[in-house]
Parts: sequence; C-alpha cells; structure tokens
Amino acid sequence: MKAILFGATGMIGQGVLRECLLDPEVESVVAVGRRETVTRHEKLREIVHRDFFDFSSIEGELSGFDACFFCLGVSSAGMSEAEYRRVTYDITMAAARVLAKQNPGMTLLYISGAGTDSTERGRTMWARVKGATENALLRLPFKAAYMIRPAYIQPLDGIVSSTKWTRVLYAVMGPLYPLWKTLFPKYVTTTRELARAMIQVAKHGASNPILESADFAEVLRAG
Ligand SMILES: NC(=O)c1ccc[n+]([C@@H]2O[C@H](COP(=O)([O-])OP(=O)(O)OC[C@H]3O[C@@H](n4cnc5c(N)ncnc54)[C@H](OP(=O)(O)O)[C@@H]3O)[C@@H](O)[C@H]2O)c1
Repeated sequence: MKAILFGATGMIGQGVLRECLLDPEVESVVAVGRRETVTRHEKLREIVHRDFFDFSSIEGELSGFDACFFCLGVSSAGMSEAEYRRVTYDITMAAARVLAKQNPGMTLLYISGAGTDSTERGRTMWARVKGATENALLRLPFKAAYMIRPAYIQPLDGIVSSTKWTRVLYAVMGPLYPLWKTLFPKYVTTTRELARAMIQVAKHGASNPILESADFAEVLRAG
C-alpha cells in the first residue's frame, strides 16, 4: 500500500506515521506538511508545502496513492466559525479534491471527532463544521472514504501533541489512563490502536463509513 499522510507532525499523525513505517504491507509514505517531521526512514518521503489552500503547484506529486490518512486539524478553542471552517473545511477540501481527481482508486480516512454533527445544523460550532467537512468528503469520488471519530486519545510511544494546552491535558490525564479505559471504554483509545485500526480499514475497508472509538478495537479484533 502506498500512503499519503497529512498532519504527520501532529499527535494523531505521528501515531499513523509510526504504525505505517512499522507495517510491512505499507510500501511507502509521503507526508505533506508545512514543516518536516523529525522522522527519517527509507519508506518516508516528505513534501513541505506552504499554501494549504492551493495544492496546484504540487498536484503532480499527489498521485499514485492507495490510501490517504488525513490527520491535519485544529482545536476550535478561541476561534470564530469562519476561522475554524477555513482550516477545517477549506484546507481539507482543497487537498481532497486534488486527491480524488488524481487517485480514483484511493481510500481516504479523515480524522474528525466524537460528537460530529452530520446534520450540520446543531448548536455546537465545531461539530457542525466537522459534519459539513465529513459530508463533503463522502460526496467526492474516492474508491472509499471513512470518517474517523475518536474521543479521548492516549498518546503512546513517546508521541506528544504539538498543541500546548493538549500537552498539559495529557500530562494531567495520562497517568489515569487505565481508569478512563475502565470507566469509559467506548470513548478511550490510544494513538497506537487508532493508527493500526485506520491502516486496517485502509487495507480491507469497513462496513460503516463512520467509525467511533468503540469500533477501533473491533476492527483490529476482526483482523
Ligand atoms: N487529540 C485528540 O484527543 C483528538 C480527539 C478527537 C479528534 N481530534 C482531531 O484530530 C485532529 C488532529 O488532532 P491532533 O491532536 O493530532 O492535533 P495536533 O497535534 O495539534 O496536530 C495538528 C496537525 O495539523 C497540522 N496543521 C494544523 N493547522 C494547519 C494549517 N493551517 N496548515 C497546515 N497544517 C496544519 C499541524 O501542523 P504543524 O505541526 O505545522 O502545526 C499538525 O501536523 C484535529 O482535527 C482534532 O480536532 C483530536
């Protein structure tokens, strides 16, 4: 499988990159980011791109992939709806339109979040915007598209979030991970489990285009 990864410098993206590099069935990974990752590996090639609203200058390099792991995203904290939509919807769709055109056989996996609002009409701003993004992605002519909706994610394997307040949150919550997993098993996952489940779905598909935390372990169990 040839994969392309957006958001490889982020917490979830680092997890996906790590598991892709460890997986013998993943032949190569191209990471597209506004800066390079710290990872060096023979299977990894990086494209540093400045304008995430316009991919025309690198369009030629965005073909030949079987799977896209789209892990780029931001927290809506402190953002207006217009600002959040610009990063969440506009960037994702700018990339996805090019990818769908260049890779008709591609399976796309998009990281959204638990509580995403598919009606696009609810009260919660971030959930409406993520819902609109998911719906627009599902309309594009990919071979398949899956919307991944994690809730709490425990970073493992030395992975750290690039967002300061999230790092603080995980420093406080992390030591209690076994407790969260026991109390809220349907809402808790790890970077490792999430990434492995996404790779599994990229290879073999899933029965539902929307996958929540409770589904990740099931996907891995089904193998
Ligand atoms: N962390 C969680 O617990 C959690 C749970 C559910 C859903 N999510 C969702 O998952 C997504 C990723 O979360 P994360 O925790 O991995 O975030 P993160 O650690 O902050 O990483 C975000 C990634 O997106 C990239 N990015 C952000 N804004 C960009 C922009 N304007 N242009 C280009 N690249 C940009 C970052 O690149 P730079 O490194 O260059 O900044 C980084 O690679 C978000 O949509 C988030 O809402 C996260």
